[in-house]
Amino acid sequence: MGNWLLILTICAAAIQSCVAVDRGNFKTCDQNAFCKRQRATQPGNSPWEILLDSLNSTINSLQVQVISSRSQARLQLQLIALADSTLHFELDEVNPIKLRYRAQESLSGSPQLSSLKITEQSSDSISLSFGGTGKAILLVKPFRLDVYDGDQLVISVNARGLLNFEHQRVRKSNEAARNEEPASEPTEGETTAEAEIKHPDEKPVEEEEEPGLWEETFKSHVDSKPYGPTSVGVDISFPGSRHVYGIPEHADTFALKQTKNGDPYRLYNTDVFEYELYNPMALYGAVPFMMAKRQQGTVGIFWNNAAETYVDIEESSSGSVVSSLMNLVSGGGNEPHQQTHWFSESGIIDLYIMIGPTPKDVVRQYGSLTGKTPLPQRFALGYHQCRWNYNDQEDVHSVNKGFDLHDIPYDVLWLDIEHTDSKKYFTWDPVKFPDPLEMVHNLTANGRKLVTIVDPHMKRDSSYFFHEHCEQNDFYVKDKSGKIYEGWCWPGSASYPDFFNPAVRDYWASRFALDKYEGTSLDVYTWNDMNEPSVFNGPEVTMPKDCLHYGGYEHRDVHNMYGMMVVEGTIRGQLMRSDYKLRPFVLSRSFFAGSQRFGAVWTGDNIADWEHLAIAVPMLLSLSVSGIPFCGADVGGFFNNPNTELLTRWYQAGAFQPFFRGHAHLHTKRREPWLFDEQTNKLIKASIKKRYTYLPYWYTLFYEHEKTAVPPMRPLWMEYPQDAETFSMDNQYLLGDSILVHPVVRSGEQEVSVYFPGVDTLWYEIETYKVYEAPGYQTIPVAIEKIPIFQRGGTIVPKKERARRASSLMTKDPYTFIVTLDKQGKAQGRLYIDDGQSLEYQKGSYIILELNMEGHTLSSKVTNQGAFETPELIEKIVIVGLSRAPSSIADNTGRILEYRYDATSQSLVLRKPNFSVSNEWSVNLKM
Ligand code: NOJ
Repeated sequence: MGNWLLILTICAAAIQSCVAVDRGNFKTCDQNAFCKRQRATQPGNSPWEILLDSLNSTINSLQVQVISSRSQARLQLQLIALADSTLHFELDEVNPIKLRYRAQESLSGSPQLSSLKITEQSSDSISLSFGGTGKAILLVKPFRLDVYDGDQLVISVNARGLLNFEHQRVRKSNEAARNEEPASEPTEGETTAEAEIKHPDEKPVEEEEEPGLWEETFKSHVDSKPYGPTSVGVDISFPGSRHVYGIPEHADTFALKQTKNGDPYRLYNTDVFEYELYNPMALYGAVPFMMAKRQQGTVGIFWNNAAETYVDIEESSSGSVVSSLMNLVSGGGNEPHQQTHWFSESGIIDLYIMIGPTPKDVVRQYGSLTGKTPLPQRFALGYHQCRWNYNDQEDVHSVNKGFDLHDIPYDVLWLDIEHTDSKKYFTWDPVKFPDPLEMVHNLTANGRKLVTIVDPHMKRDSSYFFHEHCEQNDFYVKDKSGKIYEGWCWPGSASYPDFFNPAVRDYWASRFALDKYEGTSLDVYTWNDMNEPSVFNGPEVTMPKDCLHYGGYEHRDVHNMYGMMVVEGTIRGQLMRSDYKLRPFVLSRSFFAGSQRFGAVWTGDNIADWEHLAIAVPMLLSLSVSGIPFCGADVGGFFNNPNTELLTRWYQAGAFQPFFRGHAHLHTKRREPWLFDEQTNKLIKASIKKRYTYLPYWYTLFYEHEKTAVPPMRPLWMEYPQDAETFSMDNQYLLGDSILVHPVVRSGEQEVSVYFPGVDTLWYEIETYKVYEAPGYQTIPVAIEKIPIFQRGGTIVPKKERARRASSLMTKDPYTFIVTLDKQGKAQGRLYIDDGQSLEYQKGSYIILELNMEGHTLSSKVTNQGAFETPELIEKIVIVGLSRAPSSIADNTGRILEYRYDATSQSLVLRKPNFSVSNEWSVNLKM
């Protein structure tokens, strides 16, 4: 069972005394042969050059071979111009022994092509133009690609000469090895493995047995590496950029750090017990996407490779040869910039280059490649109540009742693994949950939902239908010898369906049908956990890399995508069971680029301490800018027991983060809000209610995300891309373009220093309407009941101010609009409405209300109206930032409206105008 279970047992006995991660369970770069080899590649003197004779081109693409002057190894380069200023760079072996894996599942479809023109060609370079302002220069010797936005050099590939593509080869027998000449020493820009390939077209090619090439041992685990070394790596530089972001998931600052003096950032989906903060260790998910920010522009890259991947980040020192060269080409003076080095254990170099130029352009460009999160059902944006575990049906009833009794809204109750019959997913414990449907109906009677956990490790029990079916149909992942792989997880001995096999995903999906998954209804949704996959007795708590998948690929090739493929099956199951009528909801712990298409993720097993509360902001921002906007952290902290101050602050923060779920470990104390003192209960209730009042705004933001790819939770620089003050901010963020959040994440905090961005911009505190001028810092008092949240002047935010027991019970409630005026007395906003659950909105069944205030007139415009009808009215309009009271207010029909003006807060409340959200209307303030 390995250390993991041992730790688990110790922790179960004394949960409070568990300390940080057991680092010994996870490899460092030094313990990882390919990481060491790639990292040892020396800059300068790259042996790779373009073979101009092999050049071919079409209207969208260019193909040319690249050869190593040392080893004569050949690579096939393909450049393809894609729509929206995106360039696809692909480098693969010429005539590989075994086809390398290409990660297609990350893409949302075939990217749209654009035109690629060769504008100039000489013996030294090929100049290209693509997508409007995009230009690229391929340098022949050494091989390098420079990408320009207009005249500005923005990305350079292999400028440092770190390209290292390990060719596949046949292993030399020990006997032959003894008779061979000693291997030549690697020269600069080359590792031993590469130096050994002398005749790539005359396979088999042989090489010396360098440790870790053909077999690698970690603790008691042996990775057999039957295909030898296959890693790929290259450097990517961002001239002019001082900051890079993205590559989740790491518990680290939002602006990524230099890695020169430690390990590189690692992307290898793993179940890390009690993860540590502020380090580059891998966590549960991996998105190999990075954004680089200059003062004047933003670019993005997507390294589409599902194998274990590392990213080194190093700021060029001004004056270095490469830096000077860069600055010469980019005209960037002698500015240091970010240089990155990417390498993966197998696969190809499959790189997408997006040239922005704004942050919103880059997220749109990346979103059109890997997809966006479809608008969730409204309930999914409400509050979720989870713990490991709600013990039985009675427990569920009483928690549900408790929320009603204490008048606290919540939308979903969650059941963790103990609800199953001996950890057999898709089943119920017959004693604890004898009548699950009765329980579900009890929840749905109040408009609520249930989520059950369905993990991908299947108990090896011959009486378990799922296991039997997988055995009979050859659905499980195999070990290196071709036998069904057996690992150890919650159920004990378990096997893992091969989700790369479409027939396995079809079968998995079919199990969500209501007549198959007994005890469920259309109101029961899913939690896919442990899908890295977690294997307690596996190397680094996961599946051995030499396990075998559908298509003959090794687990090594596809590891980071396993979790995403599980969720794809689940989503489809939910769609199928409702005949593609209802939007699905799945929460996943593991993820990859593209997972956003399948729903929400969370940051896994955090700890109930202040540091973990604080790290949620940079972690969620990293996910958000990397295409995964529906994300959250366990509110309260998973391990250990938060004190009431921490719990209160955590609810206040969580209420303004995208996925809002309270969750706790099996051995923590119960945490339902009413179990605490009156004040704590009151404050938690107030936070949750506040979340519900803002649901119309959240919902509108998620709709806009589906259209534009811009995440609801966003860094300040996404709206203020030139404000350098915002470039490395970890303690505040924006929701949409209108709301600024600065959660309190320190114990005993009495005041916080809030940065207000924008020139000539006003920000209004949302309770008092106190106004703050931007740009600059202001000290804001934060007594325990205070959540520092501000609405920008110039915006209109839609709300529903009667928070009810669940969001579904608010469907017909009237709206309130908060209009905060800018210095010119103007404001704009938007409200999106649909039925909140079906897929009809995709056929146009929704309403968008555009709101505009100008010259003392607030007017609405319905910009889209399909078949959707709603009785919802507008019950209140608050206008903030009016220096004096109007003499009267009338609507567009001449009706005189009642209002109250408050001179202290300079705000006006218009009560019960009762306009329909479906109609156009206006109100005029006579000043
Ligand atoms: C690990 C998950 O991260 C945690 O949230 C869950 O409670 C346990 N697995 C048990 O299912």
